[in-house]
Amino acid sequence: MRAIAAELPDVGADPRWRDLDHLRRTSPMSDAVLDEVRGRHIRSGDHWLIDFASCNYLGFDWDPEIIEAIEPAVRRWGTHPSWSRLIGNPRLYPEIEERLTALLGAPDTLLLPTATLIHASVIPLLAAGGHVFVEARAHKTVYDGCVSARGRGATLTRFHADRPEELEGLLRAANGSGPRLVCLDGVDSMSGTSPDLPLLARICRERGATLYVDDTHGFGVIGERSAHETCPYGSRGNSVVRHTGESYDGIVLVGGFSKAYSSLLAFLALPTRLKDRLKVAAGPYLYSGPSPTASLATVLAGLEVNERRGDLIRADLHRKTLRVLDHVRRLGVHTPGEQGFPIVELPLADSADLDEVVRLLWDRGIYVTVAAYPLVPRDRVGFRIQLTALNSDEDIDRLNDTLGLLAERSVLRPRE
Ligand SMILES: Cc1ncc(COP(=O)(O)O)c(C=O)c1O
Repeated sequence: MRAIAAELPDVGADPRWRDLDHLRRTSPMSDAVLDEVRGRHIRSGDHWLIDFASCNYLGFDWDPEIIEAIEPAVRRWGTHPSWSRLIGNPRLYPEIEERLTALLGAPDTLLLPTATLIHASVIPLLAAGGHVFVEARAHKTVYDGCVSARGRGATLTRFHADRPEELEGLLRAANGSGPRLVCLDGVDSMSGTSPDLPLLARICRERGATLYVDDTHGFGVIGERSAHETCPYGSRGNSVVRHTGESYDGIVLVGGFSKAYSSLLAFLALPTRLKDRLKVAAGPYLYSGPSPTASLATVLAGLEVNERRGDLIRADLHRKTLRVLDHVRRLGVHTPGEQGFPIVELPLADSADLDEVVRLLWDRGIYVTVAAYPLVPRDRVGFRIQLTALNSDEDIDRLNDTLGLLAERSVLRPRE
């Protein structure tokens, strides 16, 4: 009998994956197994590290009030609902959707397990028979949703958020030939930057296109501006549409609870008519398993904690982020994320130094997200630091000292 393996395509043969394979084989910060977690201190084998790779921005993963919400919910609903949502919804779902809709100030919301599933199923539907425009740096899961739309007959075109006239021209050229969907990220997951949403929303509205925004990282961190806000992130963490003073007219917002809220659930903010259509037309509402009860319970408790304590947590997070950003500026090192979001991307002066840099970070007990080619273009090879409310000031001292060592060795890209 022939070995089945011989018939499988060699998915690793693409030369672009060589750098990633190398990273996985040689870097302790890739595909790592963690043996213990204590807040933002993590142990791999016998090596303790400070975690600057966590997306749990608000520290809800270790919040006692949120942890305590799990057991009563599991005792009431069992560990996992198991019905797809179209078959049956524990009461927790409408409760979350109601609270979330009010928080976002959106027309309605629809919960599905992950943003990845939302992009894969909803983008092709919204672009059906028409055009999809994807921002050049959109998240891979958004891009994959757009490629899937192309597979189902839509044309796919790239645009750049910082070249509004380019988008305007593309939309004009595609006028009158089916729906036009413009996809981009709210807060960029690598650089911590965000586009000029009001400008892009205006262009889309003028041309009758729908703007589809993935703000998985912004949700929970940035929110509506007010005279009483505790920091420049704004108040309530109700995401980029509210942060920029925009309305939901012509905008479909996607957000997730898997970052700031430390849970497994995601949502669309959308008109009720579209929500009802997606319930039958988008695969996951009918065909995918739902989020576990623990996730639904931690989301509800997280929404409660967010209303009571969220703005104080965000003020602390902003202060900690500024400690790192100010230090980076003093070192004369380049970072694209100067807007103060708790994501600090540090590209290297020379991508060939990546192994050495990762080794030094590891030895100093600093755990980061490594950005290797082809995950990022060669000129952005480096690493990403994420701050969360659970990182202590001592953690940040250690990080800043380590960045100082890297700057001394001239491996970080200098500020222009
Ligand atoms: C910008 C962005 N969109 C989508 C996702 C995927 O989110 P989910 O885990 O809900 O599928 C991520 C996760 O890393 C992300 O950073």
